[in-house]
Amino acid sequence: MSLLELSNVTAGYGQTPVLFDISMKVEKGDLACLLGRNGVGKTTLLRSIIGLNALSKGSMVFDADDISKTPTYKRAKYGIAYIPQGREIIPYLSVLDNLKLGLAASGRKSKKVPDEIFEFFPMLKEHLSRQGGLLSGGQQQQLAIARGLMCNPKLMLLDEPTEGIQPSIVQEIEETLKRINKEKGITVLVVEQKIDFARQLAEKFFIMDKGAIVARGETKALTDSMVNQYLAV
Ligand SMILES: Nc1ncnc2c1ncn2[C@@H]1O[C@H](COP(=O)(O)OP(=O)(O)OP(=O)(O)O)[C@@H](O)[C@H]1O
Ligand SMILES: [Mg+2]
Repeated sequence: MSLLELSNVTAGYGQTPVLFDISMKVEKGDLACLLGRNGVGKTTLLRSIIGLNALSKGSMVFDADDISKTPTYKRAKYGIAYIPQGREIIPYLSVLDNLKLGLAASGRKSKKVPDEIFEFFPMLKEHLSRQGGLLSGGQQQQLAIARGLMCNPKLMLLDEPTEGIQPSIVQEIEETLKRINKEKGITVLVVEQKIDFARQLAEKFFIMDKGAIVARGETKALTDSMVNQYLAV
């Protein structure tokens, strides 16, 4: 059984649908990317998976549970982590307190940041008492991923983690996401606009256009003509 399965999902904002009849499966252990031009509904799709946008039609199953109507905080406890576009670090809280927000989301009792977080992100250990807002964009992105990892998720949803980040950090983020996937077995779904990054990172892809999934498959089968048709600006 798939870890996440969407069947004929329609969703949007208020009365305005943005996603139309989306069916997709994400398998346990997948490292997949979700591609598409600006405004096609990528963020809305992630928001629907975490429950921030209600479904007007269709259903969603996560790890054998129907979560179509489950509130967002419970989806986090079930094991879905969401790293939003723009990172949403709390600027005036310390790095440590930002990390602990991830523990709160998971409903875990422990108050301690597990050592493995610092194995994945050694930089954070050096900046624990700094205000989150004083980190660089790339460091804030790493903090946001670390915060997502704190709830020990089964599925991580990341929305454009490389947006506005310098190339050396992009490379680090790529390596870290691969490690999180391979070493921890966490399933990863990344929204991405940079085709080269997506090709290097992900094994599978979905392409969205106008609120629908229009292509999908193994990343090695992602052709230039698909890129030109759906992704070139
Ligand atoms: N809060 C909102 N209220 C109403 N409409 C919205 C809202 N957020 C997004 N939309 C609309 O939903 C559509 C899809 O937006 P969405 O943010 O999901 O696209 P996206 O693929 O993530 O774009 P980008 O690549 O620019 O991040 C757009 O037409 C957008 O105007
Ligand atoms: Mg978006």
